[in-house]
Amino acid sequence: MKKLFIESIKKFIFNFTPFGAPAYSYNLEPIQLSEIIVSIEKIKNIKGSICEIGVARGMTSRFICEHLKNQNYKEKFYCIDTFVSFEKEDIDFEIQNRKKNKKELVGFSYNNFDRWKKNFINFDFVQPIKADIKKFDFNSISPVKLVILDVDLYKPTLIALNNLKKYMVAGGIIIVDDVKNNNSWDGAHQAFYEFVKSNSYTYKVIGNKCGVIHF
Ligand SMILES: C[S@@+](CC[C@H](N)C(=O)[O-])C[C@H]1O[C@@H](n2cnc3c(N)ncnc32)[C@H](O)[C@@H]1O
Repeated sequence: MKKLFIESIKKFIFNFTPFGAPAYSYNLEPIQLSEIIVSIEKIKNIKGSICEIGVARGMTSRFICEHLKNQNYKEKFYCIDTFVSFEKEDIDFEIQNRKKNKKELVGFSYNNFDRWKKNFINFDFVQPIKADIKKFDFNSISPVKLVILDVDLYKPTLIALNNLKKYMVAGGIIIVDDVKNNNSWDGAHQAFYEFVKSNSYTYKVIGNKCGVIHF
């Protein structure tokens, strides 16, 4: 009886309101999400950790968790963020050196480390870490085999890439989001190209904004 009642409510909502319409809630494009899964599979036999840097509320983290759980993989999955939005010095750099304005660089201040940890409590392989990535010691999570780097701005992207490189295993992969010019988050674009050029790394860009480096 209760089930029938709920079903008719659902029918009403779907037919007469927009609330039943499916939404795409990911920040990353489908091709990026698929690249992440293909990368995890490609390097599944290499020893090392998986890491997402810049997790926001955890949509991509949750997507990755589902795959790691379904495949019963045993790697640690490190999820690193300030969990309080951007660092002031990183924003100041964008304003002073990259012609951005403060208003366009607002976001993610809703986040809360304790709530985030609670939301992922059922995934025991997830290790949330609250840190400014510019000051993070990658040795503590090395060897690293896969990184999804999504911190939007120039300084944290470039410093993270430079600090990460010596801890990447042979065969490891770094995936960088927002490798796209002429938008609010193109600091990541500038940092990505400076990094690959100064290190003479080969790279590919997939979809509209996803840089990939193979080590
Ligand atoms: C675009 S969001 C990440 C979205 C997430 N990867 C996803 O796909 O849902 C950018 C995140 O980077 C984090 N972030 C920015 N600067 C950072 C820094 N210096 N250190 C650590 N995290 C940072 C922000 O707090 C924010 O949560």
